[in-house]
This record gives sequence, structure tokens and C-alpha cells, in this order.
Amino acid sequence: MVDLHAHILCGIDDGAKTLEESIKMCRMAYDDGIRSIVLTPHVGKFPNTSEIIKDKYLELKSNLAVLDIPVKLFTGADVELEPDLINKLKSSKFLSINNSRYFLLDTPSTLLPPNMIDYVAVLVSSGLIPVITHPERCLQMQGDLNFLYGIVKAGALVQITAASILGKMGQDAKDTAIKILEFGLAHIIATDCHGVDRRRPRLSEAVLVAKSIVGESNVLEMVTTIPQDIINNRPLKFREPKKPN
Ligand SMILES: [Fe+2]
Repeated sequence: MVDLHAHILCGIDDGAKTLEESIKMCRMAYDDGIRSIVLTPHVGKFPNTSEIIKDKYLELKSNLAVLDIPVKLFTGADVELEPDLINKLKSSKFLSINNSRYFLLDTPSTLLPPNMIDYVAVLVSSGLIPVITHPERCLQMQGDLNFLYGIVKAGALVQITAASILGKMGQDAKDTAIKILEFGLAHIIATDCHGVDRRRPRLSEAVLVAKSIVGESNVLEMVTTIPQDIINNRPLKFREPKKPN
């Protein structure tokens, strides 16, 4: 499996605190069947430059090699909405996923900008495809999945969080994650892991639950071929989602 969203790099955001914890998280991910991880520290709310992220990536990569932990690592970032987003991504001031056209777009936990659907269309026409992270945890989306439908129709991809599917992010997030799956509005399941104790780097349990909602082949795509195609910057095609009422 591939984890597209992970706060494993240590000491640069609210994820892993030490290199030891980063390594433990990689072992935990490996034991769960994860073989590739995109390292996506917060940028915006933490002052992380692309250089800082790349340096920390190289440090972790060399440690995994010494310890013989065969997990492939890729660079990325958990990018916040901001006015100059397109320029910062185009100039690599903000990192996309493995330097591809795809990038993680961190959504606010309450309200999205009213022009979000138009903004996604602008991003897509500039050649940048946002992966909307954990909309199931956003209050507005919890009450109005039509808005998410519009965002997906404008060309965005959607990542839901494994812990949400398991109910570890609250009942509302769980109920919304299940609805997002049922409507075919989710493309990726990722861990958004932050440590060895909370939001851990594990996908398999959530995959089992999601399998009963969308079927085995669909859920496997969400943790294997789709995130791998994103890392490889391949174009993606999806089934038409259902329109929520
Ligand atoms: Fe995140």
C-alpha cells in the first residue's frame, strides 16, 4: 500500500517529535503493509521551506537504509489555502507530491471559501490538481456534501483519513467519511499519521471497513494504484460520483 499523507518527518510540525519516532512510524507502516510513504509536513501554519523538507527527507531516508527498513519515501507537503498558492507551487516554494501535478490541499476544519469550486477550476486549468484532505472532518462538508460534489466535478481529488473511517476522529467525521465513500466522492484513503500513539501510520483496519462499503477492488485502488499513479504524475480517470441530495 501507499500512504499519500504522513507527518513522519520529525521536529518540523505537529507530527513526529524525534528521529526515533519517525523510524518507529516507518516500521509500524511497514508492518501494516505500507511500502511507499509521501512525507507531507504542514506548510503555512509551520514555517517549512522546501529545502527544510528535502533535508529532513534525506536524513530519514539514509537512516531507513542503514536499518534496512524497505519503505520508499517521497517528498510532499500539506499545503494550506493561501492567495499566492499557484505561484508557490509552480516555483516549488511549496512542494507538490513527488514534484508531480498533484498536491495535498489542507482544508479548514470549519468553513471553506464560498468561491472554492471556482478556485479548484482555476488550479486545474493551471495544471495543478488539488487532493482535498479529510473533508469528512470539515464542519461545512459534514452538513453539505453537494459542495464537495461540486469540488470533485471541478477536478479535485479527495483523500479521506483512515482514522475517520474507524470513528477515531468522532462520530460526525465517521458518518461523513462513510457517506463520501458511498457517493463515490473519495479517491484516496491515507493515514495523515502524526505519531506512534495518535493518528498512527496504519491503513489496513480502515481498508477492511471501507471494503464493506465500496467493495474490495475499489478500496484497494484507493490505497495502491491511485496514490501510486499520483506519485508517478500519471493522468487519472474516475467513475462518475453520485450526486448527494
Ligand atoms: Fe495532514
